[in-house]
Amino acid sequence: MSIRDATKVYAAKTGPVRALEGLSVDVREGELVCVLGPSGCGKTTLLWALGGLHELTRGQILVDGVAVKGPRPEVMGFIFQDANLLPWRNLRQNIEFPFEIKRRPVDAVRIESLLAETGLAGFETAYPRELSGGMQQRASIVRALAQDPAVLLMDEPFGQLDAFTRDEMNLLLLRLWSETGKTIVFVTHNISEAIFLSDRVVVMTPRPGRLARIFEIDLPRPRTIEMTFEPGFIALIQEIKRTVETGGRRTDVEVS
Ligand SMILES: Nc1ncnc2c1ncn2[C@@H]1O[C@H](COP(=O)(O)OP(=O)(O)OP(=O)(O)O)[C@@H](O)[C@H]1O
Ligand SMILES: [Mg+2]
Repeated sequence: MSIRDATKVYAAKTGPVRALEGLSVDVREGELVCVLGPSGCGKTTLLWALGGLHELTRGQILVDGVAVKGPRPEVMGFIFQDANLLPWRNLRQNIEFPFEIKRRPVDAVRIESLLAETGLAGFETAYPRELSGGMQQRASIVRALAQDPAVLLMDEPFGQLDAFTRDEMNLLLLRLWSETGKTIVFVTHNISEAIFLSDRVVVMTPRPGRLARIFEIDLPRPRTIEMTFEPGFIALIQEIKRTVETGGRRTDVEVS
């Protein structure tokens, strides 16, 4: 997947809003990339463009060399900050919903194994209001993976969860990722989460979002929560935090 000169200007009532500016990144197949940046820097704007949910003002997104023109749910699965489960449908009916829309036979075997893997087996007939936030988000992951898309686009999916549940979900995501080999683009403003998950962290500047810097994360896998307490990990948090604050500009050579 290739992001080339991605630029987006929204036409708001109050005038044009420059949300993204000339961002170029290549995402390798099977890679887990986190896009990190402060609130309002254009992360969701970028993810929507990746998923073909809106058009760029300039630049393009290529998937397997083909320009993205609109949504392709069979190739790209979306997971949002809210699980977006339909309250009047039980867990299984929610997971089967995309199959119904596409008029495709339900992949019961795949769903079964995903439910087991995510600890949701036995909750198939429960309604969303009966499930915890973490369980709802796991259900939305199962719903996306049941479609077997090549790419998963995730927009701060664990942002509303408590720290313990977030750790659990991150470990689960890494397990699912290593088993399925999906390409994952994961948006977050949590530095530690980004490092913990990523092969590479793409750091964006404040609005309009430009590329500040790309960090290769060469921590060994499988990763454990204990790693997040190690000095190397904490040093990396500080370095990335500085990059976010300075927008990737070298401050050490500035003259006052
Ligand atoms: N439809 C729209 N019309 C006008 N401006 C918009 C629209 N959508 C987003 N924006 C503006 O574009 C900028 C980038 O928004 P975006 O939602 O992509 O940021 P973000 O990095 O995802 O932020 P957050 O971390 O808070 O989710 C913001 O200033 C936002 O107000
Ligand atoms: Mg956002």
